[in-house]
Amino acid sequence: MKFHIEVYGCQMNVYDARRIADLLVESGFEKANDASEADILIFYTCNIRERAVQKLFSNIGILRNDKTKVIAVGGCVSQAEGRSIFEHKHIDISFGAQAYHRLPEHINEVLSGSKKKILDINFDQAQKFGCLPGRTNVSFSEFVTIQEGCDNFCTYCVVPYTRGREYSRPARDIINEVKELLSNGAKEITLIGQNVNSYHGEAPYINIGEPKGTWRLERLIREIAELDGLKRLRYTTSHPKDFTTELMQIHAETPVLAPFAHIPVQSGNDRILKAMNRGHTAQEYLDKLARFREICPNIQFSSDFIVGFPTESEEEFLDTVKLAELVKYTISYSFKYSRRKNTPADKMQGQISEEEKERRLAILQKTLIEGQVYHNNALIGKTQEVLFERRGRKPNQYIGKNVYLQSVIVESSENLIGEFRNVYIEQAGENSVMGKIVK
Ligand code: SAH
Ligand code: SF4
Ligand code: F3S
Repeated sequence: MKFHIEVYGCQMNVYDARRIADLLVESGFEKANDASEADILIFYTCNIRERAVQKLFSNIGILRNDKTKVIAVGGCVSQAEGRSIFEHKHIDISFGAQAYHRLPEHINEVLSGSKKKILDINFDQAQKFGCLPGRTNVSFSEFVTIQEGCDNFCTYCVVPYTRGREYSRPARDIINEVKELLSNGAKEITLIGQNVNSYHGEAPYINIGEPKGTWRLERLIREIAELDGLKRLRYTTSHPKDFTTELMQIHAETPVLAPFAHIPVQSGNDRILKAMNRGHTAQEYLDKLARFREICPNIQFSSDFIVGFPTESEEEFLDTVKLAELVKYTISYSFKYSRRKNTPADKMQGQISEEEKERRLAILQKTLIEGQVYHNNALIGKTQEVLFERRGRKPNQYIGKNVYLQSVIVESSENLIGEFRNVYIEQAGENSVMGKIVK
């Protein structure tokens, strides 16, 4: 029996899908080359914006074929929809992000005909991690979930409802997983979570005399940075209100930790930030970034933005544009506010029209791209260490990422995928830079 997984959404979904694939292989299923040859189609979903959900339902229609015996939908849409997901008649199994360790069992039940329309959206995060096989099928760059769920309840966001309350994995489990990945060839590790800097996981007994307690992200990073074989360490996503001075110092002291931080601001206006329940003002955010630049001069930032939050006025929107101009982000992700069922913002008066959100997004994106171009141009004439990830469109072209997650393109007759190379940057565009490998 062959399976195929379609993944939508954030990095945690990419991580989960990797672990689901390993689990299915361990349970005797085989990975299909593509959806057309799969008996079992799995859609691992995102509920963050309306568009992500629409894409899911249209893709079920497109990918389903004569060979399909089981359709399983998992992740954040499953969690949010509950039983109503079965209104889509082709779906056999719906499993939450905390219940995927039971998927092989559910697939077998559907295949044998013993059960139909299985819904499993239990929320026990700790149980899931304990039931997964080890990580042997390893790539040069891997994610490791350290923390999952969110207690922040930003008023626009579904994550606290779809991923559950905050759960931090024990530090020992994380360190062991990273060691396993490194010994199987990983070079770059990204620690992931909905809010990694609120990590507070059970401490391992590593140092004699140290009481067992909890570790914060800072301590975890210090420990992981020392592991043999690690070339580059990243973490994401950070919440501005939880970002500590100690973490900034660790960046300054730890060469293996990329001098780059994704710290989403969402809006540059205090009234909107308050209505979003973000827990900080625009100035507090800017002060943190300024302190970060003082402590670690080569640090660069990326951010997420939402335009057209309910009641956002033109002036308030322009505060966001001004903040973006001021910070000059290396990379940014910007979105039109999307109404999500059962969130407080969905019930607010003063929803902004789609056209207006569209207009604001275009204005903000112009400014964000200027920031990107500024940083890309600044690389010209410099040498960057690049980890190559994939082939480009042209023959012999390879695309990789520098330490700031900027895309770097080179030509090479040698296969560079999974390799680090120093690249001398000669040209810059909006979304990437081009250069030559330095021998
Ligand atoms: N925990 C992270 C973000 C996770 S969601 C944080 O707080 O930064 C990723 C991004 O999706 C958010 O940063 C936000 O910009 C965007 N997003 C979340 N809910 C949204 C909504 N309802 N409409 C539009 N964008 C949204
Ligand atoms: Fe959503 Fe806010 Fe939690 Fe991020 S911090 S996952 S935006 S509720
Ligand atoms: Fe989407 Fe769930 Fe991630 S809603 S962004 S897949 S946590």
